[in-house]
Amino acid sequence: MILVVNFGGQYAHLIARRIRDLRVYAEIIPYTKLTPELIEDIGPDAIVLSGGPSSVYEPQAPKIGEWVINLGIPILGICYGFQLLAAMMGGEVKRSKGEYGPTRVNVLDRSNLFKGWGEEELVWMSHSDYVASPPRDSTVTAISESGYIAAFKHRSLPIYGVQFHPEVRHTNKGSVLLDNFIKIAGSNRDWTEERKISLIEEYLKRELSRCSSILSAVSGGVDSTVATFLVNRFAGGRLTPIFVNHGLLRRDEPENVLNLLKKVGINPVYVDASEEFLRALKGIKGCEEKRKIIGGLFIKVFSRALEGKNFDCLVQGTLYPDVIESGGEIGADRIKSHHNVAGLPEWLRSKVRVIEPLKYLYKDEVRKLAIHLGLPKDIVERHPFPGPGLAVRIMGEVTDEKLRIVREASAIVEEVLREKGLYNRVWQAFASVGDDRWVGVKGDARVDGYVVTVRIVESEDAMTADWYKLPPDVLEEISKRITSEIPQVTMVTYAVTTKPPSTIEPC
Ligand code: XMP
Repeated sequence: MILVVNFGGQYAHLIARRIRDLRVYAEIIPYTKLTPELIEDIGPDAIVLSGGPSSVYEPQAPKIGEWVINLGIPILGICYGFQLLAAMMGGEVKRSKGEYGPTRVNVLDRSNLFKGWGEEELVWMSHSDYVASPPRDSTVTAISESGYIAAFKHRSLPIYGVQFHPEVRHTNKGSVLLDNFIKIAGSNRDWTEERKISLIEEYLKRELSRCSSILSAVSGGVDSTVATFLVNRFAGGRLTPIFVNHGLLRRDEPENVLNLLKKVGINPVYVDASEEFLRALKGIKGCEEKRKIIGGLFIKVFSRALEGKNFDCLVQGTLYPDVIESGGEIGADRIKSHHNVAGLPEWLRSKVRVIEPLKYLYKDEVRKLAIHLGLPKDIVERHPFPGPGLAVRIMGEVTDEKLRIVREASAIVEEVLREKGLYNRVWQAFASVGDDRWVGVKGDARVDGYVVTVRIVESEDAMTADWYKLPPDVLEEISKRITSEIPQVTMVTYAVTTKPPSTIEPC
């Protein structure tokens, strides 16, 4: 395995994901946890030092011990990691106006890390500090178009650094570089579907042996479905799946989900709590308040299901980024993780054992695993749908009218995208509605109608997103269908802001 040391920012996940795409297991640890004992325990083939927002000479800047350099295993420093290596090894880092976005680099040494690169390549830069002089005993291997040192390698140790981000798609040969690093590390390419399944199997056998009765909340989304499917395989009769309808689901979703689950041998207890949820949301306008109410009610519904039935285990579709983001780690013994599981309150966590079979995986890995397990395409390809459902696609109070509008409009968006073969090309696609009005003319009458905003985004992990450049004729078809099929809507707008600065969901 390759260890990715995180110095902050979002890049560490992308690095780990790219390495895993190249079939080598990668794990992330915060720099504060990098100790000789940990290295001894897990014995990584190599270490990648990630980027981060700091400046190496700041007093609070994240640092690692000199011992890392003398480990003898390959090390690749990226951006901040590159500057840190330079500073630790006798080079010099200075402040400049920096380079941002696509940048040309001249590759001076096309061996090792840069095997397969051309003399000039496009990379993704995002730095203000720069390495003014390279480390002792190292060679500069690439220079940027602005004349900055873009890469170096040590002359005798397997230590490499790049100022740019090979993990970002805009670095044209980024994956080639990471692949070269894996070759230098000599890692086995054994992060395959079989290995993922055997890791999960091992985990489930160990954990489920302590469960007598297991509850699993399944939504039909890929994570909870795959998690439940896997647990079902090993727990058989001990598992009770439950599907909660909170009244904020998409059109025909309860029926569709129940049918889909049936196909994969999951027959959940159906709990229709719509009225209870919608009643609790009456008069509530704030997004956070709505989320809190829905989250609280979910727990209440679960607790009711738990009561008197002596469930001692609860299945969650927690993914690897959730483990890392909540300060957990898989780490040396692979099972140290202790974190805030999907917002479960402490009292509930202390009552039940939480089973998280997907905690080793990223979402795209879960999708691939689902295909490998033979789950239907409709499950694998489903877009992510937020737990609070349509409540976060409605601005202001959740009224029956707005709920109907957003439900119908979202169904139209999905239908048109499926017809055009675009559904699987995008990360999420939906409609939202608020209290804004637009005067329209329907028949001969002026109508004070609602504004519906369509949001379609491309993304790799929902941390960042780009609005999808939908062809104008498709956009027009969506708009026409929404305004003609939903009489209360008089205007359709298209959301064209990236995340950041926006978010994917409007509320
Ligand atoms: P934002 O809107 O923060 O969304 O850009 C990022 C991703 O997370 C989903 N999302 C949620 N999922 N509970 C969930 O389970 C939530 O409260 C929630 N809010 C947003 C969103 O659909 C997107 O994929």
